[in-house]
Amino acid sequence: MEWRPAINIARTAWKYVPPAQREQIRRVAHTAQEKLSRPEVNPLYDYFVANDGRLIHKWSQYFDIYHRHFQRFRGKPVNVLEFGVSHGGSLQMWKHYFGRHAHITGVDINPRTASLSEDRIDIVIGDQEDRKFLRRLGKRLGHVDVLIEDGGHTMEQQIATFEEMWPRISDGGVLAMEDLHSSYKKRFGGELKKPGTFIEYAKDLIDKQHAWHIRGMAADDYTRSIAGMHVYNSIIVFDKGVVTRPTHPKTGNPSF
Ligand SMILES: C[S@@+](CC[C@H](N)C(=O)[O-])C[C@H]1O[C@@H](n2cnc3c(N)ncnc32)[C@H](O)[C@@H]1O
Repeated sequence: MEWRPAINIARTAWKYVPPAQREQIRRVAHTAQEKLSRPEVNPLYDYFVANDGRLIHKWSQYFDIYHRHFQRFRGKPVNVLEFGVSHGGSLQMWKHYFGRHAHITGVDINPRTASLSEDRIDIVIGDQEDRKFLRRLGKRLGHVDVLIEDGGHTMEQQIATFEEMWPRISDGGVLAMEDLHSSYKKRFGGELKKPGTFIEYAKDLIDKQHAWHIRGMAADDYTRSIAGMHVYNSIIVFDKGVVTRPTHPKTGNPSF
């Protein structure tokens, strides 16, 4: 098929679209493109595109990742915690997705977000870089089944939140660290391979996962509790579980 004439007509027609409507058309086109590239049913993404309530701001690649790792918690009595409330839309999305037995807590440094609490959504005001605050929060919540970290995205905030909240994740729970491209951005304290970024920290966690195979490295709490690390573009999902020293038994008969 010859596309050139159709493209020329579309370009000419675009000139006559009033600027106020262009943004709306761009959004519809973007949504259609995203839908076509997502053949599987994803209730979270469907909610997001249909959302005309409180604002939600997420990178579009996250939705399939969330659904892959979070769907087993749907309909269960889970404690869900999200750092970064902003306009409150994502907290409502989690409430809808996880179902009527889920309890959602949002944390934000902005006191205005406290007004966004509602039935089964609590908002706690605090600084995610403040470890004392995080310890108090952990005690208050007891345990967390699903944690989504979408707060201020600086290295100190991400590392403090991961270290203080990981012990509170239940066995079988998950912790998703979002927007990790901030590790490559100077304005968040990041830069390629700079020590102290969350991505470099995560590489050290991979070493810790393998401590049993590394001479001179002792297994620690991370070795024994990081059951999986799923690295995607800008997001790492950590599975919590009981990990014991691996063994490598053999079955069957030798061929030679
Ligand atoms: C990216 S927005 C959250 C977006 C929201 N989760 C969504 O999906 O629509 C980041 C939020 O983190 C909050 N924030 C920034 N620094 C913080 C800090 N040190 N502690 C807690 N929250 C912080 C900001 O006030 C802002 O509301």
